[in-house]
Parts: sequence; C-alpha cells; structure tokens
Amino acid sequence: MTTVREELAAATDALAEVGCDTPRLDAELLLARVLGTDRAGLVMAARDEVSGEHRTRYLALLTRRVKREPIAYILGRRDFRRLTLVVDPRVLIPRPETELLVEVGLELPQGIRVADIGTGSGAVALALKDERPDLHVIGVDRSEGALSVARMNASRLRLQVEWWLGDLLDAVRCEAVLANLPYVPDGEQLPPEVGVYEPRQALFGGADGLDLVRRLVAQAGARDGLSLIALEIGAGQAPTVMRLLTEAGFREVESRRDLAGIERVVLGRR
Ligand SMILES: C[S@@+](CC[C@H](N)C(=O)[O-])C[C@H]1O[C@@H](n2cnc3c(N)ncnc32)[C@H](O)[C@@H]1O
Repeated sequence: MTTVREELAAATDALAEVGCDTPRLDAELLLARVLGTDRAGLVMAARDEVSGEHRTRYLALLTRRVKREPIAYILGRRDFRRLTLVVDPRVLIPRPETELLVEVGLELPQGIRVADIGTGSGAVALALKDERPDLHVIGVDRSEGALSVARMNASRLRLQVEWWLGDLLDAVRCEAVLANLPYVPDGEQLPPEVGVYEPRQALFGGADGLDLVRRLVAQAGARDGLSLIALEIGAGQAPTVMRLLTEAGFREVESRRDLAGIERVVLGRR
C-alpha cells in the first residue's frame, strides 16, 4: 500500500520525465478527482493509504496525462471567468488570455446583439451573457460537435444564448462581433497537448494564420449596422490585423495586451 504523499511524488516524477509543464499540479488534480476531494483535502490526507481501487483509477488517469492528453480533457472541465465549462476533444480548451475578448464585450452598449464567431465550448458567449445579461448574445460555429458542447454548457449554466451552425457571419445579424478564430499558421510546431489532442479546425488558419480573420473582417466591413469588431490574434499578428480593420472602414483601431504583454486582441469601431 502507498500513501497519498508517495503516490503524488511518484506521479510528479513520471509527469516531469515526459515534459509536462506543471507535473505536481497535474498529479494533485488527478488524485483529487479520484478521491473525490480537492487539493487542500490531499494535504490533510497526505499520510492516508490509497486503496487498491483508487490506485487503479488513478493510474488510468495518469497514463492518459503521461501521453500528454490535456488535463482539461481528462477532467472534462475548465474554469473560464466565473464559469466552469464542460470540455471534450470537440472543442478548444478555453485559454485565460481569451478573457480579454470578454472584457471588450463588457464595454458594449446596453441591450445590443453581439455575436461570438467560432464559439467552440461557448466560453466567450456564455461568460458575456453571465456578466452582461442585458445583451442578446449569439454563438456561431461551423462544427456541429462544438455547438453540441456549447449548448450543453448553456443548459447546465442556465444561460440564454442563441446558437447557430454556420460559416462566420453568414447566418447572423448583429451589431458587434467578438471572435477567437483559428490563427495558428499552418505547419507551426505545437506541444502535444495542443497539436495531438485539440481539434485542427480550431487551430490552423492558413499560411500566415489569418485566412479566417481576413474573411471575417471583409464580411464585417460590408455589413450595415455593425459598430464593433474585436478579434483575438497570435503574437506578432497585430500590425497586419490592425491594417485589415482600417482598410475595411473601421476607426479607432487599437490593440490590447494580455498579461504576458502580447498584443492579443485587436478591435475597431464604426
Ligand atoms: C480557436 S477556437 C475558439 C473557441 C472558443 N471561442 C474559445 O475561445 O475557447 C476557434 C473555433 O472557430 C470555429 N471555426 C473555424 N472556422 C470557422 C468558420 N468558418 N465559421 C465559424 N466557426 C469556425 C472552430 O470550429 C472552433 O470552434
């Protein structure tokens, strides 16, 4: 029999050896899930023995993480702003930097129609509806699987969002657009958690990563009544995207930096 402390030490070593970024944290999250507790509970239980059945279940989860499956897919959950979202391999795992897009949404005028284009798990649409219930929020994705996850999250969280299966703005009438579309340049090397496990259609956006952004900006520029667009982008893409917005007729074009200092969101108004 091994104790909680010994299981965690062995698991941390195994995860560090295969290159996981946060081996101790991951080992704790998985054991806490199996034991039905939280990380503080593990500290209290450090000297307790782990039963055979719990150990078997723990090793099964650990094996998945050793193969570099993301912890959020293994646990089936990811926190985003005030919400806990269900996630699975049909959707991108929401990232902390995407909260910036929600923050732009919080500044929108009262009661307008706002679309989250490429909604995935529904993270941006649902967080916005949660924090600004006055807005009419629409979530669009071209993946049926992603929309199923978004709908499931909306129903669990009891948040009213209109969902559409479609290509970019095709099916949607709105006054503001928020979008975290795929923006990774084709062929870019990604860590296994991302490149092997997350959906390709959520990641790659053509040779320079901006194929979908270009199409969306062109569509938005041609739409009457659309007064704001905000786009999440990758490192180094801000100058190109700011120029695209200016050429499409948007004014007051600006970029906002994430906590790492990267220009992460570009927005324009009309
Ligand atoms: C980077 S993920 C973002 C998911 C979510 N908004 C988030 O921030 O966690 C991009 C999403 O855009 C969707 N997508 C890709 N091309 C699209 C298109 N042409 N029209 C609508 N959605 C698209 C993908 O299916 C994927 O769910």
